Amino acid sequence: MSPSRPKKPSIPEEKVAMSKSPPSCQPNRREFLKNSTGAVVGGSLAATLGAARAVHAGGSETIRVGLIGCGGRGSGAAMNAVRADEGVRITAMAEAFDDRLQRSRQILARQAGDKLEVDDDHCFVGFDAYKDLLASDVDVVILATPPHFRPAHLRAAILAGKHVFCEKPVAVDPTGVRHVLETATMAKQLNLSIVSGLCWRYDLGVRETMKQIQDGAIGDIVAIQENYLTGTLWHRGRKPEWSEMEFQIRNWLYFTWLSGDHIVEQFIHSLDKAMWLMGDQPPKRCFGLGGRQVRTDEKWGHVYDHFAVGYEWENGVKTYAFTRQIANCRNDVEDYVLGTKGRARVLKHTIEGERDWRYPGPKGPSMYDNEHREFFAGIRAGNLINNGEYMSYSTLLAIMGREACYTGQEITWDEAINSTQDLTPAEYQWGDVEVPAVARPGVTKFA
Ligand SMILES: NC(=O)c1ccc[n+]([C@@H]2O[C@H](COP(=O)([O-])OP(=O)(O)OC[C@H]3O[C@@H](n4cnc5c(N)ncnc54)[C@H](O)[C@@H]3O)[C@@H](O)[C@H]2O)c1
Repeated sequence: MSPSRPKKPSIPEEKVAMSKSPPSCQPNRREFLKNSTGAVVGGSLAATLGAARAVHAGGSETIRVGLIGCGGRGSGAAMNAVRADEGVRITAMAEAFDDRLQRSRQILARQAGDKLEVDDDHCFVGFDAYKDLLASDVDVVILATPPHFRPAHLRAAILAGKHVFCEKPVAVDPTGVRHVLETATMAKQLNLSIVSGLCWRYDLGVRETMKQIQDGAIGDIVAIQENYLTGTLWHRGRKPEWSEMEFQIRNWLYFTWLSGDHIVEQFIHSLDKAMWLMGDQPPKRCFGLGGRQVRTDEKWGHVYDHFAVGYEWENGVKTYAFTRQIANCRNDVEDYVLGTKGRARVLKHTIEGERDWRYPGPKGPSMYDNEHREFFAGIRAGNLINNGEYMSYSTLLAIMGREACYTGQEITWDEAINSTQDLTPAEYQWGDVEVPAVARPGVTKFA
């Protein structure tokens, strides 16, 4: 018997309530649910679709794209969108901070030229910026904020009738994962695309290597090893005029409520490939070890700098998963797959076994360009893509690994999918916010 798929979730309480700009007061989560999402969910999805502008299948009509979260990846994704389809125009931008928005706007003006059509009236700043953008006349949105905001932004985008390119991970806690699963179902009912930023699924060489493995080139899979061993990422410092909330959001990587910790934020790419190899069936259980050995200063928030997790599937297959963000160590990012008749390296695109194989195909387009090509081609052709289920399950796989390491306990899939953990802060306001303690195995509990 395979581990249970998530039960059809009931509509969970909205995860995010956000205000316009600092330092105004915020509605609480309950009010947000009542005022926006809840009202529409309680009503008719078809009516919502009726209000949305359909993007035209087969045509060459302009597709207006709005960018929510104008950082490194959001700006990059906007360029992928522009390159993917002649008719794409970036017409609106939403950001928590004006300086970040203007920086991205300048970069895009240089790179996208006249395909950037964002006037001042379509630049929205603050926690509520996404709502203003969704109310503007865009057909497609790119969601590229820190992952914490994804469940609420995705729900609002789908209910506003927009096709979505949705960066990974899609949540930071199981409550958010269930919310996204439910939104993905709504998207199907509304004939809207959700394409995930789990970009390796759109890499031609990885796809072909996966196909070889699934067609039996290494026999039955016995074990998988996932390595994502890298150095440190950026840190944006602290300015005296910043509130604690602003500091945390600007340095979101280092706060679990915003990023999910790096096992969720970054290592999800590898864990997603393990899920893919296992036919997108979830494992039964996992255990893990982790900690922070080098990034111990308070500037690094409270996240770990290394994790090691052992996942076990119902059929006995195990995945040994290692990730580290520490400078000056041996780095390696690869998926090693051991089978009864051979072995494979997914990122190297090689198979050694009864018949050695190496991917012979073209290198390009890049996976980032390709996911947008397929996204826009699908919208034009009416072949809508919905990656909602796997992007949610892979996010949960990473969350359960994190919780096994944080608590020092075994975590089952059923515990993870049913967990009530919700890392949403009590209030969204530009003032004080708790600095969570570093998790301590044996002491920290999983809700
Ligand atoms: N697929 C990939 O290979 C890949 C690569 C990098 C990042 N990512 C993902 O993309 C997302 C963004 O990462 P990034 O590297 O661009 O980070 P970033 O910090 O450069 O950009 C995120 C931006 O979102 C803004 N923001 C924060 N809260 C917001 C809110 N509530 N509303 C609007 N804007 C808000 C931030 O100010 C920031 O400018 C993350 O989920 C990350 O995991 C994916």
